Amino acid sequence: MEPSSDTVMPVRRDLHFSLPQARLSDWHDAGVHVSHFFNAMSLFFPDGERFFIHAVRHYRDQIRDPQLQQAVTGFIGQEAMHGREHTECNEMLDRAGLPGTALQQFVYRLLERMKRRAPKAMQLSATIALEHLTAIMANALLSDARVVSQAEPHFARLWRWHALEETEHKAVAFDVWRAVMPKTLFSYLLRIWGLIVASAIFWPLVAIFHWRLLRADPVARRERGGYWKMIRWQFFTPGPLRRAAREWFDYFKPGFHPWDHDNRSQLQQLPPLLSELEGATAA
Ligand SMILES: [Fe+2]
Ligand SMILES: [Fe+2]
Repeated sequence: MEPSSDTVMPVRRDLHFSLPQARLSDWHDAGVHVSHFFNAMSLFFPDGERFFIHAVRHYRDQIRDPQLQQAVTGFIGQEAMHGREHTECNEMLDRAGLPGTALQQFVYRLLERMKRRAPKAMQLSATIALEHLTAIMANALLSDARVVSQAEPHFARLWRWHALEETEHKAVAFDVWRAVMPKTLFSYLLRIWGLIVASAIFWPLVAIFHWRLLRADPVARRERGGYWKMIRWQFFTPGPLRRAAREWFDYFKPGFHPWDHDNRSQLQQLPPLLSELEGATAA
């Protein structure tokens, strides 16, 4: 099977973000509850992305197309860099007296169990499902400047960079799936099952992690009406989760491909972000 003609070639970028520890709880302009929503998501990335790498690597030898092989190399490189930078962010949670490592350990144990016990096809199905979730959330972040543009610049750059690279490689694991899985009803059902199970596990865990961070943070405990402010932000203005939810359903189409959501134009945000980062490092 050929990779999609629309495949964008992902490039590994070794970047650092120098996040300011003092702003960990209120780096987002929408307040501590939104800041910790992003911080809670960050706890999933290092082990989650290692899991994706592991799932895709297993099938690497079966890929004949050199272009897809190259895309897999880029995908692995990008996910490894994301894991490294989010680990830094997660360690900051510990330094602030919040349960970063403890929560991350939970993700680690869950995914290690899955690596040992779940069939490889199921692991790849979970990977492409979670890549769909990250792709639609990345699109929500990139398509509306209000999502992070007013946030503390170092944190904003980290999340914009991650969203851009998730967009760049959003079809890679999916194209591996198409290359190695037979075109059968079973494959389709396995793919759909992956999204349902991954969403049913991921979102409640994000909510629990978020709550654990907020409960442990004195800044959040002092905030009145923080949950309502966050819900308004997530679902109404600017409403990134509401927009992502619409795209979630497209995955159920039998012929779905990640580039059906053609948001390649968002990648034009990459060069200015890279120059901004260069400027920040030089300063
Ligand atoms: Fe990533
Ligand atoms: Fe990814």
